[in-house]
Amino acid sequence: MNAMINTAVKAARNAAKMMLRASANLDSLKVETKAFNDFVSEIDKESERIIVETLLQAYPKHKIRAEEGGAYGQEDSEYEWIIDPLDGTTNFLHGHPQYCISIALATKGQITEGVIYDVERNNLYTAARGKGLYLNDRRMRVSKRINLNECLISTGFPVVDQSMMDTYLAILKDILGKTAGARREGAAALDLCNVACGRVDGFFEFNLKPWDIAAGSLMVQEAGGIVTDFQGNETWLETGNIVAANPKVLAQLLPIVNKYLS
Ligand code: IPD
Ligand code: CA
Ligand code: CA
Repeated sequence: MNAMINTAVKAARNAAKMMLRASANLDSLKVETKAFNDFVSEIDKESERIIVETLLQAYPKHKIRAEEGGAYGQEDSEYEWIIDPLDGTTNFLHGHPQYCISIALATKGQITEGVIYDVERNNLYTAARGKGLYLNDRRMRVSKRINLNECLISTGFPVVDQSMMDTYLAILKDILGKTAGARREGAAALDLCNVACGRVDGFFEFNLKPWDIAAGSLMVQEAGGIVTDFQGNETWLETGNIVAANPKVLAQLLPIVNKYLS
């Protein structure tokens, strides 16, 4: 593991300890509503505080973009950490054990390192560009399925901004008619880990934020998968519109998503 990944792992483990303690007392948590169906708890904020403190201790000259507090560190650094301190907040608040911490590092604008920690399963995903994806100590790869009718597709419902709901449902209906099924698990970073480890064959979602997908998209690429936006281009980090899959499945999934958008 390289030094930057080691530091991110230390930050994630520190935050996860706090999260697991808090998960025993969910009823007493303070929760605010940022927008319809968009919640933030004191645990999201405390996790971010712990992660930012750990990263800046090791790298005081780096820049940090994090979901809850915005920007930290040195604005003009060529290193930028992109952090989701708790991905799957709604799950966490319901005691539903599908949530994680996601930390990515961009070097001169390109994602070069990623760490995702699945807190409840104690599963640590790490990737460095060109070095592969590891789940704990094991090298992982995307699935080998090629027939769409055998594939499991994961997705996220557009519940915060519902303006594209009809388009989304048309895509989902088409996918349900052509595949072995769809899953909505509620933490985009873990959805991407599932693509990367071959537990699902593809994933698509609208309107995500950079911290939801920065680390997970590197995991998919390092596991032999492909990540694109809805046009098959590379703007997924900026647009938040993402399709990720093994290469054969991507070629079949992308046209289905794209068809309803034009
Ligand atoms: C959310 C999760 C969810 C996705 C939402 C995200 P949060 O992140 O990743 O799966 O569907 O769009 O906002 O708010 O729990 O960090
Ligand atoms: Ca998130
Ligand atoms: Ca979050």
